[in-house]
Amino acid sequence: MTTNNHMTSALFLLLGTLLILSQTCLGDDHHRNASLSIDMSSRRLIPNNFFGIFFEEINHAGVGGLWAELVSNRGFEAGGRHVPSMISPWGMIGDEKTISITTDMSSQFKTNPMALRMDVHCNPTTCPPGGVGTYNPGYWGMNIEEGKTYKVTFYVKSSGDLKAVLSLVGKNGTEVLAFKHIGADAEKMKKWTKIETTLTATGSDSKARLQLTTSQKGIIWLDQVSAMPTDTYKGHGFRKDLMKKLLNLKPRFLRFPGGCYVEGNTLANAFRWKETVGPWEERPGHLNDVWNYWSDDGLGYLEYLQLAEDLGAEPVWVINNGFGLLDSVDTPLIKPFVQEMLDSIEFARGNAKTSKWGSLRAKLGHPAPFSLKYIAIGNEDCGKPNYRENYVKFYNAVKKAYPDIKTISNCDASKKDLDHPADLYDYHNYTSPQGMLDNTRLFGKMSRNKPHAPKAFVSEYAVTDPTYKLDGTFKGALAEAAFLLSLEKNSDVVEMVSYAPLFMNQNDRKWSPDAIVFNSDKSYGIASYWVQTFFKESSGAVLLDSHLRIHAKDDNIYATAVKWTDKTEKKNYVTVKVVNFNHASANLDISLDGVDRKSIKLARQTVLTTDDLEGDNTFDNPTKVVPETSRFNSKDKKSLHDLVVEPFSFTAFDLVLN
Ligand SMILES: *[C@@H]1O[C@H](CO)[C@@H](O)[C@H](O)[C@H]1NC(C)=O
Ligand SMILES: *[C@@H]1O[C@H](CO)[C@@H](O)[C@H](O)[C@H]1NC(C)=O
Ligand SMILES: *[C@@H]1O[C@H](CO)[C@@H](O)[C@H](O)[C@H]1NC(C)=O
Repeated sequence: MTTNNHMTSALFLLLGTLLILSQTCLGDDHHRNASLSIDMSSRRLIPNNFFGIFFEEINHAGVGGLWAELVSNRGFEAGGRHVPSMISPWGMIGDEKTISITTDMSSQFKTNPMALRMDVHCNPTTCPPGGVGTYNPGYWGMNIEEGKTYKVTFYVKSSGDLKAVLSLVGKNGTEVLAFKHIGADAEKMKKWTKIETTLTATGSDSKARLQLTTSQKGIIWLDQVSAMPTDTYKGHGFRKDLMKKLLNLKPRFLRFPGGCYVEGNTLANAFRWKETVGPWEERPGHLNDVWNYWSDDGLGYLEYLQLAEDLGAEPVWVINNGFGLLDSVDTPLIKPFVQEMLDSIEFARGNAKTSKWGSLRAKLGHPAPFSLKYIAIGNEDCGKPNYRENYVKFYNAVKKAYPDIKTISNCDASKKDLDHPADLYDYHNYTSPQGMLDNTRLFGKMSRNKPHAPKAFVSEYAVTDPTYKLDGTFKGALAEAAFLLSLEKNSDVVEMVSYAPLFMNQNDRKWSPDAIVFNSDKSYGIASYWVQTFFKESSGAVLLDSHLRIHAKDDNIYATAVKWTDKTEKKNYVTVKVVNFNHASANLDISLDGVDRKSIKLARQTVLTTDDLEGDNTFDNPTKVVPETSRFNSKDKKSLHDLVVEPFSFTAFDLVLN
């Protein structure tokens, strides 16, 4: 991100023109003068885990998203335990005369009874060239890249000798990107056989498919088919390009796995952690019935903990506390659910040798305990009958066994004091740009006289369009920026914050906007994503007391100042962030009390703005609204007076301290 001066001045001209127009229309003031005085003696720290992310399995965020598995419905379980069952998105290669395909319950895995059965009617002379068989198009196409290697695993059985070809082919089924002959004699093939192989692509196609074909008459059964790129983040199965976008936010916590995904419409379809750990072939998978797609649970509880560790983030594990959206467990029957939670904590933190669940974790490849310091007791369940009664059972059990773990209640204490104990409480809000601006005043109004009151965890917030049709808007993102500044200021009562939702696969838009939009091979951040990047140094920084003076009637200017240390550069910075939610530009004076002016200089300035307030990034124009950074060297001698803050912009001024 560098500034293109030419473009910037063109933008200024354009903005200037718009400004004059809008001023005439709205009767807005000429530019504003604002001054920010900063008290450098301030000592209050923003909480260490202030800024994080919330990952929900929604919009194919994990399945067909961050989790790099390429095969969709890999165990043929998505269609339910029926014969025949729906095997979508698997397809048939050949016609009715040459092959028939169905399912049966012949799987060797008790937890995954379904398998695919192919009856091949043709032989080497009557089969079409290339043979007949089945293919899997993945999640709206597999991204296969030339030179990269894919690990393919599957289970197979046949009525006679097996002579087949495993291949990756382009989307039209003709261009072969990689292939291998698979063969074994009838004796071996009588029993289910696990085949593990790698395919190295000699071509690229972002909408490729995996296929197994044969020209041999007989019956072939197929089960538990996986294709994983070998090139994933640390080899842990996460898509690298999407991980890069997450790492760029420096998230200090990862709230997971939902959201309503935790609950399911009914408890029968809730996320049950014990069914998501262990060999992938034995995970039953489940219907994500709230967001309406099958989850094979390849991204299971252990993978979520690994994800948090890889991001350098504290896991915030949202447990199922006995609620579906439509049903719930009565308090007298809640004990097994409490135990399920305790077991999950032991799985994360327990001793690798001496504890039952800790030793399972070690066996599965992670002997070192994970950090787990936060348990959210449910998601948005406060209003439901039994919530409080059930909550207390979970709370007491956690505190007894793990007094250091912080618990999160679903009841919003910003409105009314809680009638039950909690360390934190969830605050969720999806609203209009104006609603988000109104919310900048919310946490300032909270009482400060109860030092032991639970702190707010703003675990879901976003400006949304009531019709959920839009990707997002720059105007909405700017209102979110103002809201985030208010949270920094009020971080004595707000301890953590995360935007929602994080991800959307372009092909499954259940909820928008979402911070990061992707398809099989590309991704972009919307303006709301880029707003969050301005806060990546906030966690653990010093919040400097600052006073903003504006000489105008409406005060749609918001600012904070934080002091932080760049550990690689070994330099101290004061970052002043300013939201100007006005049609007019502002001239800002920054003054710092308690520091010699000569020991401080403006090192760089980062601006996020566009003249299209209702616009946002798209696949066609993924960099329409991205931060632009200008760097200043000593020769520039930038004054801290009359700093121009553009109309409708979010600006960070980085001042370096000597
Ligand atoms: C802003 O300040 C300048 C002097 O620094 C003054 O000339 C100008 O009138 C002020 N503008 C407004 C709108 O107050
Ligand atoms: C299939 O794709 C390949 C490679 O893109 C192309 O050369 C070929 O013409 C295509 N065939 C059909 C039938 O579209
Ligand atoms: C969200 O914020 C808006 C604007 O302040 C407010 O009207 C609404 O009640 C809030 N919603 C919730 C669920 O707190």
